[in-house]
Amino acid sequence: MFSLIYRSVAKESFIDSDIYKMLSDARDFNAEHHITGCLLYHDRKFLQLLEGEKPKVISLFNAIESDPRHQNVTVLRTEEREDRIFDRWSMAFYDYGNLRLSAQHKLGQIDRFFEASKAFEKSSKLTNDYFGEVREILLDSAL
Ligand SMILES: Cc1cc2nc3c(=O)[nH]c(=O)nc-3n(C[C@H](O)[C@H](O)[C@H](O)COP(=O)(O)O)c2cc1C
Repeated sequence: MFSLIYRSVAKESFIDSDIYKMLSDARDFNAEHHITGCLLYHDRKFLQLLEGEKPKVISLFNAIESDPRHQNVTVLRTEEREDRIFDRWSMAFYDYGNLRLSAQHKLGQIDRFFEASKAFEKSSKLTNDYFGEVREILLDSAL
């Protein structure tokens, strides 16, 4: 099982309703291709984890990378793993702005995470801890 994490910045014209529409199509595609993962969104910044068979993840990422609705697409980490972190989700979506306050507190300041995301390049443990925590919050908050 292969996983890839990247971050990017949404273009101005990529408004929330378009993001939700994209997500719905993405979930259909991902379910069909056994791709799971998580898309975090806040303040125009995306952080996405994709999991699945390597050729499928790479080919999806190539499409995502050339998607004109976002820019500054930067791969933070690629990894072979035993298990999926988001085995239940074709693409969990997480807009920090819409979270319950308790959940926001639990995760702390999102900007810190986007800055810290550089560290994903180096640390497998940090990646597991971070996305493990995201998964717990998603299980709690039924979004
Ligand atoms: C931030 C972001 C995340 C995306 N995530 C996915 C995804 O997980 N699965 C998916 O099928 N498309 C995703 N897309 C959409 C793809 O970039 C692309 O539109 C889709 O693969 C259809 O490509 P096509 O129009 O070339 O067929 C994402 C787009 C953006 C901007």
